[in-house]
Amino acid sequence: MLASAALLALAGAASVSAIAVPTGEIARLKRDYIRTLGERSKLAKRQSVTTGADDVTVLNFALTLEHLEAKFYHDALQKFNQSAFDQAGYSGLYPVLQQVAKDEQAHVDFLTSALSAAGATPVQACNYTFPYTDVPSFLGLSQVVEGVGVSAYLGAAGSINDTSYLTAAGSILTVEARHNAFIRYVNAYTPFPQPEDTPQSASNVVTIVTPFFTSCPSGSAPAIQGHPALNVTSKNFTMGAELKIAPTNASAVNTNNGQLYCGFASGLAAGFSNWSNGACMIPTQNISSMGQTYVVLTTGPSLDDKSTVAGPAIIDLSVQNVTVTLPSHNSTSSGSGSGSSSSSGSGSSGSGSAGSSNSNMTSGASTVKMGFAGAAAAVLGAVVLMA
Ligand SMILES: *[C@@H]1O[C@H](CO)[C@@H](O)[C@H](O)[C@H]1NC(C)=O
Ligand SMILES: *[C@@H]1O[C@H](CO)[C@@H](O)[C@H](O)[C@H]1NC(C)=O
Ligand SMILES: *[C@@H]1O[C@H](CO)[C@@H](O)[C@H](O)[C@H]1NC(C)=O
Ligand SMILES: *[C@@H]1O[C@H](CO)[C@@H](O)[C@H](O)[C@H]1NC(C)=O
Ligand SMILES: *[C@@H]1O[C@H](CO)[C@@H](O)[C@H](O)[C@H]1NC(C)=O
Ligand SMILES: *[C@@H]1O[C@H](CO)[C@@H](O)[C@H](O)[C@H]1NC(C)=O
Ligand SMILES: *[C@@H]1O[C@H](CO)[C@@H](O)[C@H](O)[C@H]1NC(C)=O
Ligand SMILES: *[C@@H]1O[C@H](CO)[C@@H](O)[C@H](O)[C@H]1NC(C)=O
Ligand SMILES: *[C@@H]1O[C@H](CO)[C@@H](O)[C@H](O)[C@H]1NC(C)=O
Ligand SMILES: *[C@@H]1O[C@H](CO)[C@@H](O)[C@H](O)[C@H]1NC(C)=O
Ligand SMILES: *[C@@H]1O[C@H](CO)[C@@H](O)[C@H](O)[C@H]1NC(C)=O
Repeated sequence: MLASAALLALAGAASVSAIAVPTGEIARLKRDYIRTLGERSKLAKRQSVTTGADDVTVLNFALTLEHLEAKFYHDALQKFNQSAFDQAGYSGLYPVLQQVAKDEQAHVDFLTSALSAAGATPVQACNYTFPYTDVPSFLGLSQVVEGVGVSAYLGAAGSINDTSYLTAAGSILTVEARHNAFIRYVNAYTPFPQPEDTPQSASNVVTIVTPFFTSCPSGSAPAIQGHPALNVTSKNFTMGAELKIAPTNASAVNTNNGQLYCGFASGLAAGFSNWSNGACMIPTQNISSMGQTYVVLTTGPSLDDKSTVAGPAIIDLSVQNVTVTLPSHNSTSSGSGSGSSSSSGSGSSGSGSAGSSNSNMTSGASTVKMGFAGAAAAVLGAVVLMA
């Protein structure tokens, strides 16, 4: 297997680079690897002229999301400097987020190179709007955005034809998952809420991210069509609770044509309940009580794109109850924070004071449900800004 060999060579080069391999040699290996991807992709493209989404479309979709994430972190770290994070009680977090920002930019660069090498036109960055107002609401949105990234890569994986692309996408996916786990931990949620993550179709992902786009260079808006948006207006995200959820634009969805269902995607499981009068019940069976859960309106019971009439919106059924006290690492940062930040965002957020030093990153146990999820879900169900 040529591709695997190339990848192994690349991995080997990366792992020993700290000791011996000259950077020129690594650059050459990377070039060779990307060229290999390009050759294979051209072949696949020629042979699949009659099929739908080819690998280039999938990779460009991934690049669309990476541009968004890169700009999200870049802008936030411009808006909030290290002191802002320290003052909000998140001492030591700023440099870690700088690393996240660098990862996202590296993903942009990698996908751009791979697409160019394949003779395709990589999409460019767009202009975006992100609905955070302070450090805690930024961290709340970051948790959701990274979770969507994981779901997007997982959902796209099955559409990738070329196995070397699959490995490359997988190597990005695992890093997005670690970003998500870390941010969840910082926000006092369990870093790994369930044993399987939740794949989402490209149409579902486009539905969720569309409100973040304000304008795009010609040809760089998401090429894949989303669904009409959903608006969640209740905040009690427990199993068995009533979920108030309705299309943001009532006339965009025909709701008079037979029974509609709320469909809940959680891990690899699905749960359904009847939707009527703008509400449904969060199922007590089949879905996990933890983690980022995607809710659609469906003619189903099915979560297929074909059955979906609106959504998804995002709710998170996790309990904000993770409190880990770490041993002191003799940190050089002072971190005598005031702990005065309000915890994650709006809504029914907890009363916990934020951690005040590196050795005590999270505190303030709370059994209150995710405050920002409601806000984020509402935001994510916002007006579709793009044609
Ligand atoms: C998938 O890849 C294989 C081998 O690279 C190729 O023969 C096939 O035509 C490709 N199919 C599509 C739909 O691109
Ligand atoms: C951080 O930002 C605040 C407010 O924008 C500003 O007053 C302060 O000087 C900045 N601190 C540093 C170290 O740049
Ligand atoms: C992004 O916004 C800037 C400033 O408003 C504007 O000059 C630029 O044309 C926009 N870019 C795109 C691609 O729409
Ligand atoms: C949330 O819903 C559950 C299930 O219906 C109910 O037992 C609980 O009292 C509700 N909590 C709040 C705060 O309304
Ligand atoms: C709502 O949906 C209808 C039907 O698709 C459409 O004509 C209308 O422009 C939409 N309204 C808004 C504000 O997007
Ligand atoms: C749970 O799954 C079972 C088996 O597929 C199904 O019969 C049942 O209706 C499901 N319950 C809900 C609430 O979706
Ligand atoms: C859901 O709707 C169907 C069709 O209208 C009905 O037969 C069923 O009893 C409803 N189930 C519940 C739990 O309300
Ligand atoms: C947090 O709450 C969940 C759900 O109630 C529970 O399963 C879990 O054990 C709790 N975790 C901690 C660390 O208390
Ligand atoms: C860390 O340890 C060094 C060496 O023991 C000591 O000089 C320094 O003051 C310590 N720093 C902190 C922040 O405790
Ligand atoms: C961690 O924070 C809690 C609550 O503010 C405090 O009681 C505890 O002493 C702190 N632990 C350490 C190791 O600083
Ligand atoms: C969602 O519904 C609420 C209550 O009707 C409304 O205030 C809010 O503006 C809606 N959000 C969106 C994005 O339409």
